[in-house]
Amino acid sequence: MMEETKPANQQLILAIESSCDETAAAIIDQELNVLSSVVASQAEMHSIYGGVVPEIASRAHVQQIIPVIDQAIKQADKTLDDLSAIAVVTEPGLVGSLLVGLTAAKSLSLMLDIPLIAVNHIEAHLYACRMAAGRDIFPAIGLVVSGGHSNIYDCKSAVNYELIGSTIDDAAGEAFDKTAHVLNLPYPGGPSIQKAARDGNPKAFSFPRPMIHSPDLDFSFSGLKTAVLYEVKGKPGKNETPPELTDKRVADISASFQAAVTDLLVKKCQKALKQTGYTRLCIGGGVAANQSLRDRLKEICASLKIELFIAPMEYCTDNAAMAAIAWEHHANGQFAPLDIDVNPGLVRRRS
Ligand code: KG4
Ligand code: ZN
Repeated sequence: MMEETKPANQQLILAIESSCDETAAAIIDQELNVLSSVVASQAEMHSIYGGVVPEIASRAHVQQIIPVIDQAIKQADKTLDDLSAIAVVTEPGLVGSLLVGLTAAKSLSLMLDIPLIAVNHIEAHLYACRMAAGRDIFPAIGLVVSGGHSNIYDCKSAVNYELIGSTIDDAAGEAFDKTAHVLNLPYPGGPSIQKAARDGNPKAFSFPRPMIHSPDLDFSFSGLKTAVLYEVKGKPGKNETPPELTDKRVADISASFQAAVTDLLVKKCQKALKQTGYTRLCIGGGVAANQSLRDRLKEICASLKIELFIAPMEYCTDNAAMAAIAWEHHANGQFAPLDIDVNPGLVRRRS
């Protein structure tokens, strides 16, 4: 349930997310109603570099964190005294960025004498699907496709996700960002490529689909990204001048690249569904906002009679509302000690 209701016995979590380049805070009640969700994006600051610069990100989080938390509380029409717990994303992400959110969360938890709950960013991305559904959606296959991750999970329950496939090189979002850079399109690359692809022909270039037929559930996007680079700049060692990068060419390359990524993601999801026998698929993370991917998944899942749960657009890219998974930890009595640290690289493997 996403609509705002205010039951008399309402308990509230303030959730904080600062794992990458978005400073975010949200107020969520125990029924998973999102009372406010504030996101301050740093995309513009990183755009000239074509990707996130960690040092710039952590400095911007320091500037944004208190105003963003303040705004989340104000928008929910609440005060700090109304809060029952503080949730914070502690893993995975950029160490300096995570630390800013965690420090703010610890301070509030200590000051207000309310529990602290640690949230895994990737699990939260998938939980956005559960929130939107308004009911339990597990067991399911979960695909998280973002700037830092391309992972497939066997989601046994809302809090028990086993990693069963991942990228061996770039993440899908990273491939979008790097490809956009090659095409002189602005950062973040995903939305730019999607926009450029609208006028393009997805069959104009037959880019490779690395590992699409491999028996595992792993991905590889690096070869695809390189194929685009060679198409734009020419192959190294060959003395050929590539054709001029016209708008038409950018549109065709974007559409063909997007089609290749979509094929790779859809194929491995199908494989995971077949292997596990599950009939539900949930998808989260920034790349899940891609319209071509959403359309293809809807088509395929309808034909295979698979129940599809895609995170709502506003909860695909990083936000704090998805940290509502903290209510599951709360129900299980899983609170974090005040000396908890961040875990930058950790992707939990559970069985
Ligand atoms: O989940 P997210 O906000 O941050 C991470 O956890 O990494 O994902 C950001 C990534 C970026 O790489 C961005 O290019 C990609 O998501 N993205 C998209 C779209 N919107 C954002 N990729 C493809 N199509 C989109 N519409
Ligand atoms: Zn993310």
